[in-house]
Amino acid sequence: MQYTWNDIEQHVSACTHCPLCRTRQRPVMGRGSHRASIMLIAEAPGGQEDRQGVPFVGSSGEILDRLLGDCGLKREELYITNIIKCHPPGNRDPKEEEKEACFPYLKYETFLLKPGIIVCLGRVAAQRIISPDFKITRQHGTWICRKNCALTATFHPSAVLRDPSKYETVKKDFLGIAEKLRSLNTDKPIDIVGK
Ligand code: URA
Repeated sequence: MQYTWNDIEQHVSACTHCPLCRTRQRPVMGRGSHRASIMLIAEAPGGQEDRQGVPFVGSSGEILDRLLGDCGLKREELYITNIIKCHPPGNRDPKEEEKEACFPYLKYETFLLKPGIIVCLGRVAAQRIISPDFKITRQHGTWICRKNCALTATFHPSAVLRDPSKYETVKKDFLGIAEKLRSLNTDKPIDIVGK
């Protein structure tokens, strides 16, 4: 059976696959265009996202919007999601078992979207999606190709909040993403994020 976007959303909203279901206020399903070529994958919803049930509505979202605007990209052209769909208390890193419990949702999102470009925002997403030994400081802005999809990573917008001098570095990475979008081949791949 082939799940629809609606099916995934229903499953996420009722999910009890890990203990975060007891502390979350609202699960945060990915948002954006279901026809987008670019999928942004971040780590986990923050406190504001937990209250609203929408990704990147807090202060990290403001940085993200500024980066997108500076690079001529619009949120409506993207699909934005997280490795885990529920807020970890105190914004701690997601645990291994939480990431694994949530991974099928990301697989379905990727399968339905078939993005040509995946951008991991931050170390946690890059290490889960690109490679477990990905070094965000050394490897941000580099590209690999997997099953006809271009994958890259940059710093998480919250890293820019903590250290505003990183803004220009992340902006350069986003300019590379905008350029990649322009050069995109329109064949849509499947099964990109692996097991
Ligand atoms: N940080 C994330 O990693 N994801 C969000 O949705 C918001 C903040």
